[in-house]
Amino acid sequence: MIEIRDLHVDYGKVSAVRGVSVTARPGRVTLVLGANGAGKTTTLRTVAGLTTPSSGDVLLDGESIKGWPAHKILKRGISLVPEGRKVFGSLTVHENLKIGGLVASKKAREESMRTVFEMFPILEERQSGPAGLLSGGEQQMLAFGRSLMSQPGYILMDEPSMGLAPAVVDRVMASVRSIADRGIGVLMVEQNAEAGMKIADDVVVVNRGESVYSGPVDEARNHSSVVLAFLGEAALTGTDN
Ligand SMILES: Nc1ncnc2c1ncn2[C@@H]1O[C@H](COP(=O)(O)OP(=O)(O)O)[C@@H](O)[C@H]1O
Ligand SMILES: [Mg+2]
Repeated sequence: MIEIRDLHVDYGKVSAVRGVSVTARPGRVTLVLGANGAGKTTTLRTVAGLTTPSSGDVLLDGESIKGWPAHKILKRGISLVPEGRKVFGSLTVHENLKIGGLVASKKAREESMRTVFEMFPILEERQSGPAGLLSGGEQQMLAFGRSLMSQPGYILMDEPSMGLAPAVVDRVMASVRSIADRGIGVLMVEQNAEAGMKIADDVVVVNRGESVYSGPVDEARNHSSVVLAFLGEAALTGTDN
């Protein structure tokens, strides 16, 4: 279990996160909703060890990982799929995947590669070609695959639907669900609330750096007028950032 407890993160004088608490569990998709600038990316980057919090804590199975370097957090099984996918366009699909598995042994890497190809057959078909020639949806699958190569217990996903056509968004969300169904805990930031809620188990709403709601997806959908207000706002804000 990943527990983010009352996290605060500052960029100099800018307070980006000021009181975010989120729990992610194995086999579950925890969806983090919030408008542009709410602090979602900062939260994920802090869990991954790319940003240092000013206060609060991040626990992995009860142990604080706050302030640990990113490579150590990755080795412990928390992998980040960054905003904008960030695949290496001039490298082949196969090379991109190999990079994701660098923390693992050669044997584990070969095993992971087989699993990734089973999950995303298109990546096996295109493995020798440059990643830059893949479509947006395929690049997102490559970003998931690269992340899976380290055999993580948890994957942090930053706006995987960003910039994708609606039909592709549903395919990408189905992939997210199938990743969680393998027992991996997924902590996913999305501005596309509707698409995310179709496959999520739990929902957290972040407003201006603070988590203001968390609950199971059905409750979030049916009960909270607060959440509905944010869903409306998120839908209006669109998919930018
Ligand atoms: N590197 C940075 N330096 C200064 N301010 C930043 C930086 N990154 C993000 N911010 C600010 O922190 C706040 C939260 O940003 P971010 O975490 O990217 O939000 P979100 O992902 O929800 O859109 C915003 O006000 C943003 O302008
Ligand atoms: Mg963001």
